[in-house]
Amino acid sequence: MTNTVLITGANRGIGFEVARQLGRSGWLILLGARNQARGERAAAQLAKEGIRAEWLQIDLDDAATIHTAALTAAHHHPELRLLINNAGIAGDMTAEPMAVTTESLRETLNVNVMGTFEMIKAFTPLLARNHGRIANMTIPTSPSRFWHPFSYIISKSAMNQMVKLFGQSFARKQIPVDIFGIMPGGVSTDLNGHLKSPFVRPVAEGAAAVVKIATDGHHHQGKIVADYGFGQMVGRLIARH
Ligand SMILES: NC(=O)c1ccc[n+]([C@@H]2O[C@H](COP(=O)([O-])OP(=O)(O)OC[C@H]3O[C@@H](n4cnc5c(N)ncnc54)[C@H](OP(=O)(O)O)[C@@H]3O)[C@@H](O)[C@H]2O)c1
Repeated sequence: MTNTVLITGANRGIGFEVARQLGRSGWLILLGARNQARGERAAAQLAKEGIRAEWLQIDLDDAATIHTAALTAAHHHPELRLLINNAGIAGDMTAEPMAVTTESLRETLNVNVMGTFEMIKAFTPLLARNHGRIANMTIPTSPSRFWHPFSYIISKSAMNQMVKLFGQSFARKQIPVDIFGIMPGGVSTDLNGHLKSPFVRPVAEGAAAVVKIATDGHHHQGKIVADYGFGQMVGRLIARH
């Protein structure tokens, strides 16, 4: 049976690299992207590398695209067994709380919380038929002195609780879907202006951590699983000195 995965926000960043790595190991990639040109370009790039990839329009800010994608997947890819809820935005990461506008907070919550909620509800029936998994890309949400992006932390806190609550419910109701969060640590992408630091992972390394957890076959029901790559971090620090 074909191993099929749907990854949202897979046209760039961690999502694209996860698609590439899963594709290399034989997975059929349903490449979720909100924009047709960007989605098709990314799928064509993967195809050039010998990977089977199909663009599926998914805009987390537009529930209709999510429901259409769920119908398309059920019809054309009834074997789907892994969903990676990767698409996300950070909002203004430098704004002090008093400077955050209601509009920008709402936008971040709409994508990271409401959009992900809609994805989970729309795809769970199909994934349940295949005893599938839903992995949700997330972050640690305790603000520190050095790192306190307001909308991002609020939205991912809500997402983490949502994952735990869905996990508890799936266990209670014996819905055969494993839902969990993945924290790959800091990864250098557009989201953080391609931050360069020994403490931030190159995208291929961050994606490899995501692939490992998403496909490890372990039960992570309702848990948030972290792989910060401390060993690789130490290696980078040593290499600098
Ligand atoms: N980078 C990190 O350090 C890090 C660490 C932990 C967790 N994460 C999480 O990992 C995920 C991917 O992060 P990244 O660093 O790869 O970010 P990124 O490079 O900024 O990529 C974000 C992706 O999400 C898509 N997206 C944004 N808004 C969307 C919407 N409304 N509907 C559908 N897709 C949308 C973007 O599509 P467009 O090209 O159309 O904008 C893009 O494909 C995020 O959920 C993030 O919170 C990141």
